[in-house]
Amino acid sequence: MKQRSFGKHDVSVSEIGFGAWAIGGSWGPQAEEDSVAALEKSLGLGLNFIDTAAGYGGGKSERIIGEVLRSIGRTDVFVATKTPPAPGPWPPSPYCKADDRYSMDYLRSNLEERLKFLGTDKVDLLQLHTWTRAWNRNPVPFERLRQLQSEGLIGLIGISTPEHDQNSVIDLMRGGWVDSVQVIYNIFEQEPAAELLDVAAETGTGIIVRVVFDEGVLTGKFTKETTFAEGDFRNGYFAGDRLGRAIDRVDAIKKTVHEHLGKSDAATMASVAIRFALAHPAVSVVIPGIRNVSQAEANCSVSDEAPLSQELLLALREHRWNRAFWYGGK
Ligand SMILES: NC(=O)c1ccc[n+]([C@@H]2O[C@H](COP(=O)([O-])OP(=O)(O)OC[C@H]3O[C@@H](n4cnc5c(N)ncnc54)[C@H](OP(=O)(O)O)[C@@H]3O)[C@@H](O)[C@H]2O)c1
Repeated sequence: MKQRSFGKHDVSVSEIGFGAWAIGGSWGPQAEEDSVAALEKSLGLGLNFIDTAAGYGGGKSERIIGEVLRSIGRTDVFVATKTPPAPGPWPPSPYCKADDRYSMDYLRSNLEERLKFLGTDKVDLLQLHTWTRAWNRNPVPFERLRQLQSEGLIGLIGISTPEHDQNSVIDLMRGGWVDSVQVIYNIFEQEPAAELLDVAAETGTGIIVRVVFDEGVLTGKFTKETTFAEGDFRNGYFAGDRLGRAIDRVDAIKKTVHEHLGKSDAATMASVAIRFALAHPAVSVVIPGIRNVSQAEANCSVSDEAPLSQELLLALREHRWNRAFWYGGK
């Protein structure tokens, strides 16, 4: 497993990290023994970065991660978690006040909860789970996080982009408010290559790439007949004609991949999806969601493969698809 520097910070992270949303919930049935085995396998393969959140099963994902790390005696793994805003619209509306959603009292008590679930006395990276550009002129929640950092409760401070307005975090990077940004960057969502990733390189901001498979569809394993288990959030994400429209585009990507690599099976497509994101030098770590041992093996092994050719990368640019509007409803 290759390592990369985490922006300008004194942290070396594995290129592939563990996306730990599904092991917390919202993805249909998930046996805890599969989650534990997936984590252990990934760590055994050299992965040393895990991304979780308060919202992934209300602390369940964090609890499982903490238990696994303690049970195998690993203290060298970098764990990133997220604090959501206090209850209210998601993402925060432009009329929300930062003081109502990320007050000092709220941030402190939520961080204490994160420490409890993870079973640790310091979070390596605490990310605010979402944001609105309405707060950019006075990003006071980050002053509060710096206070908690100075008390030794947090290592680094980050932000996860709001899906509908990812570029809203660029001001925060330029202003030195955040150490890292978690961003959607995949073969469909290429907008971050326009500005956000370059600003990360300029400012030394660590970049965590999420949703590299667009929730699974970019692996090419779905058909228009695919259905999702009860309780899987993808019943909503791919509702109506969305799955069909995504699959038409994935079929076109498969054609491109086949022209360049001579194959376009699901394993190849998953690997190409990850290598597309890894090709940008500003990217520190890609965090595919991993739910079982075979996904751990498949995704971790991508780091050992050769980078995609410039020709294929250029051809994949043609498959960009700006879908920010999906997140706001149809
Ligand atoms: N707002 C935020 O901050 C936010 C939002 C979303 C995600 N995240 C983070 O980013 C991580 C990654 O995003 P994601 O999990 O939503 O989506 P993703 O990485 O695009 O897709 C993950 C899903 O793809 C399937 N999969 C994984 N590896 C595969 C492989 N090699 N071949 C075929 N299928 C494979 C699995 O589901 P099935 O096997 O069930 O198909 C897995 O749950 C999350 O776990 C979370 O840590 C953060």
